[in-house]
Amino acid sequence: MDRNIIVLDTTLRDGEQVPGAKMNVYQKIEFAQQLKRLQVDIIEAGFPASSTGDFQAVHEVARCVGDSVSVTALARAVKSDIDAVYESVKIAQDPFIHIVLGTSNIHVEKKFNRSKDAIMQMGVDAVKYAKSLLPQVQYSTEDASRADFEYLWNTIEAVVKAGATIINVPDTVGYTEPEEFGDLIRRINERLKNVNDKVILSVHCHNDLGLATANTLSAIKNGAQKIECTINGLGERAGNTSLEEVVMALKVRQNRYRCSTNIKTTELLRTSRLLTYLTGLDVQVNKAITGDNAFAHSSGIHQDGLLKDKNVYEIISPEEVGAESMELILTARSGRHAFKNAVEKMGFDSGDEASFETLFRKFLALADAKKEVYDHDISYLMNSHREQAENNNPMYELGSFQVITNNLYPTATVELKKDGESLTGSAVGDGPIDALYTVLKTLTGLEVKLHHYKINSISRGKEAVGRVNLQIDYQGKTYSGRAMDTDIIKASALAFLNAINAALLDKAHNRKEG
Ligand code: KIV
Ligand code: ZN
Repeated sequence: MDRNIIVLDTTLRDGEQVPGAKMNVYQKIEFAQQLKRLQVDIIEAGFPASSTGDFQAVHEVARCVGDSVSVTALARAVKSDIDAVYESVKIAQDPFIHIVLGTSNIHVEKKFNRSKDAIMQMGVDAVKYAKSLLPQVQYSTEDASRADFEYLWNTIEAVVKAGATIINVPDTVGYTEPEEFGDLIRRINERLKNVNDKVILSVHCHNDLGLATANTLSAIKNGAQKIECTINGLGERAGNTSLEEVVMALKVRQNRYRCSTNIKTTELLRTSRLLTYLTGLDVQVNKAITGDNAFAHSSGIHQDGLLKDKNVYEIISPEEVGAESMELILTARSGRHAFKNAVEKMGFDSGDEASFETLFRKFLALADAKKEVYDHDISYLMNSHREQAENNNPMYELGSFQVITNNLYPTATVELKKDGESLTGSAVGDGPIDALYTVLKTLTGLEVKLHHYKINSISRGKEAVGRVNLQIDYQGKTYSGRAMDTDIIKASALAFLNAINAALLDKAHNRKEG
């Protein structure tokens, strides 16, 4: 019989640590809801001790999806971190506390400057404390792949005796290779079974040498029961093990691995695209499973072979990862029923009658502008509809605008609305976007600095939608903004205002708290 492999997704913790991948609480909830549709077993929602914002986000994720997905969050081996995890995840039905502490000589000596015994005791005390709060406790032996094996094992044995129910073995720096890591997991597994065969053995790999997927698969072959991964392989430095790669490898090569997961693979592509949309971090076109070209056959020989029989060159059918269902095309003539069907099929709530009517009118306006409406466009529509409903009192709104570009004086004229008032101004710049942002800065009177700007086309068809993702610095903090529109200048203005409004809301929120 196949072994079931438990899948923990850490996109919202390890993935979100990446510069540029920061999501706000609404985005995290939205992503967590998609992870629930994907049927991951566990969501690691964040590192609540790191900031009030992170604490709230973990709590909200636990509240919104914790009824059917197990939720955890990360703590260092200190009481205050463990308390923060407990308080933020306890609302979930099946929460657990995840503690991390170094095990390699370099971590013990350089990071902590303490003796190995003292560090091990710190881990034991942390587990005992966490155990007094929740029955399930995961212990991560950080940098395990570079640790001295006997010390690593002694630590594992000690924390299991203290009550740890999951032992996670991380290749923190992506240093190991498949045979070596498989061997490590086999040795730990053999000993662990003799100490407590109920304890779950887990792995967490990083991709610094491009081996994270291979190392994770090797660990599974050697007894790992749980894996930690991220969507699109997002994560520190070169990233984490890509969830979609391991899951599909187990599925396609089931004859070799004899393992399965609970993942609903038809949701993989949608989850990947949602993450790209939320973070603005694109997937390389030739990335396995989720890259744009993963199912594109371009050479004549391949196309000819495929026409004769798909199996000639295709080991995964695009439908299996949800590619086919991404290609719903609607037009202005599609009607309410087809639109509603598309919205619900994508997992969105179409809302009550009044809200749906507003949504449908927006859809018709988009369909008129774009002619063909794809899944991505619907996703955009639903997200901006939701954002408007949540933020029904945005600080700045775009009124009218005109941008003229030439090689002498690119000029932008903008009308902004705030609290029922209209603010108008013009500015010249080095280019049209520079002129646009200069006038927006002048009108809002804020000292913001643009440090990242990216524009992509996000859907196919002649009237493609442009997506702008950017980051601004304001009073020592970084804020992200994003917007989509068939007009890229408008998308640029909206994304900038989105970031400015986020900064102002954050400041207002902090003033209230303080
Ligand atoms: O890479 C790592 O070691 C981690 C641990 C917290 C599991 O992310
Ligand atoms: Zn990690």
